[in-house]
Amino acid sequence: MERIYTTQTLEKVGENVKLAGWAETVRNHGKIVFIMLQDIKSVIQCVGGEELQDVSEGYVIEIEGKVKERPEKMVNKGIETGTVEVEVTSCKILAKSKESPIPLNTTGYEINEEMRLKYRYLDLRRNRMRKIIKLRSEFAHVVRNEFVKHNFIEVETPMLAKATKEGARDFIVPSRYNPGKFYALPQSPQQYKQILMTAGVERYFQLARCVRDEDLRSDRGYEFTQIDLEMSFVNREMVMNTTESIIKAAVNAVGGKIKADPFPVIDYKDAMKKYGGDKFDLRTDKEKEEGVLAFAWVINFPFFKKVNKEDSAEVDDGKSGWVFTHNPFSRPTPEFEQQHLKGENPGEILTTQYDLVCNGYEVGGGSIRAHEPEMLRATYEIMGYSEQEIEDGIGHMLRAFELGTPPHGGIAFGLDRLVMLLANESSLKEVIAFPMTSKGSTAVMDAPSIVQQKDLAALHLDVTDKGDWAVKSIKAKLDNLEIKYDYLEHAEVRTSEEAAKVRNVPLEYGAKAMVLASKEYENKLAMVVIPGDKLLDLEKVKKALGEEFDVAPKELVEKRTGIKMGGVPPFGRLFGIEVYMDGSFWSKEKSAFNCGRRDASIIMNANDLIKAVQPNKISEGSSFTKE
Ligand code: AMO
Repeated sequence: MERIYTTQTLEKVGENVKLAGWAETVRNHGKIVFIMLQDIKSVIQCVGGEELQDVSEGYVIEIEGKVKERPEKMVNKGIETGTVEVEVTSCKILAKSKESPIPLNTTGYEINEEMRLKYRYLDLRRNRMRKIIKLRSEFAHVVRNEFVKHNFIEVETPMLAKATKEGARDFIVPSRYNPGKFYALPQSPQQYKQILMTAGVERYFQLARCVRDEDLRSDRGYEFTQIDLEMSFVNREMVMNTTESIIKAAVNAVGGKIKADPFPVIDYKDAMKKYGGDKFDLRTDKEKEEGVLAFAWVINFPFFKKVNKEDSAEVDDGKSGWVFTHNPFSRPTPEFEQQHLKGENPGEILTTQYDLVCNGYEVGGGSIRAHEPEMLRATYEIMGYSEQEIEDGIGHMLRAFELGTPPHGGIAFGLDRLVMLLANESSLKEVIAFPMTSKGSTAVMDAPSIVQQKDLAALHLDVTDKGDWAVKSIKAKLDNLEIKYDYLEHAEVRTSEEAAKVRNVPLEYGAKAMVLASKEYENKLAMVVIPGDKLLDLEKVKKALGEEFDVAPKELVEKRTGIKMGGVPPFGRLFGIEVYMDGSFWSKEKSAFNCGRRDASIIMNANDLIKAVQPNKISEGSSFTKE
């Protein structure tokens, strides 16, 4: 028998069927067991006896049974298959499951974010999330179809691109083949899509992944998706009309309710006066409850603004004190073209920029572009770029514009934001399958994570302050060995005495990691770990190691370990330094040490420390301290 979906049972009353999915809930009344079986379509009640005894919640099962109509008063209006149930004749367990670490039969809002994202694969099983995933897919699908109807061509643009200034910081990617050189992940396909116009594509679109290093907010992620497009031989109104019709068609297709059609068009100046901002909400309270979408265009923005000295990106871009407000590739409105070319009174110039706002969010933005080299050059001259800086920054664009680039313009809509509004959610995280936590860690897998020294070296990279890196590496190492330890953060300490005090442990428990430099071999270092209450005896070191050492100067220690003096942990191997531990550690109970930072310590059993540090074999029988 072929497996069918839960929803298909509605047409199979009286027939035998095979279903597969998850046992969402199990109610075992002894002789009779009720299971809510969940698959991608819906849930269905399954009733059985013996054959369901071994099933627990979360199990993946395949059942066979007969579909029966439920008696009138047993109908469950809350689910799509509520008029039927399946009388189970056999059940196969396909996969067992431990108890879910998070509840799945709620909306999920009540669960803490870290847990929801750590177990996102379970979180996505909940009804609300399932609906959103489907909504996003359907919306994207209709958008694609609409573009194709309007003769757009889908083109993918590079993810490893050049660092460009688009208002945010870049995420940069090191190049193994080009030491010291970096790619940047694209903040948007802006330049490539314009160059596609030079290439004669005429109408380009892409559901483009964009990456920006900005402060995270509920409506802003490091990664997001744009519905990105560019069109040749158009003016502002043509781009606005075409894209408005695409957005309307897609919103309607997934059941969205639009307040005003056509979208109102509002002058930036009027918006500021009337709403006090350019991201306004036109809905009434009733419309807010009903989930209505109130779109509006905003036009006639100023092209330039005075640099905000606190914004480093603006300071970089606006060398003259003037910086673009939206997009440096835009062209001014026709009446300001001459003034723009002459660079006069930048504050007066308006841009062809159009933003689409919806329910208080900016959901899209674009413009007609400066397609003549002198117009684009003028923008950078107004911002105070020298000839050389212009060449370095946008020389490739100027070259393309000298080789037959048609007039063009485009826009990008934030797919995540649109779906967020369609789903009536207030955070992007609810509409992205694997979003980041508010602190910027990835869902399920814990990135950013430590990269081994050797992998960094292959990329010609080094981390200059390795304090946090060392803390994380040591914790990971101890966790791996299943060693128990206490980690504490405290005031900065520089001496063993200060450390003992803030840690509130005896001085003798302190493990002082001393970096020594060989007197014979240049560059050769060793680490000797001694108790906090003892002094190093270099004579004993010389005897035990068969080589003469000195205490390494602070600069050398910091250069070779990347750790500030006072923070150096006894884990010499982290830095490729052989470690010798004083023999007295073998008879100590506890050890405490700075684990990479002056303001962070670990306290643990001394024998566990020895196990984790893996000191040189001669350690156990040696003493390196003065009596
Ligand atoms: P802009 O920077 O305005 O324009 O981006 C277009 C739209 O993308 C969405 N968006 C974001 N969504 C989530 N998280 C973010 N960090 C984020 N940043 C932007 C917004 C925004 O309106 N290249 C131009 C477009 C063009 O001129 O054609 C651009 O990227 O909804």
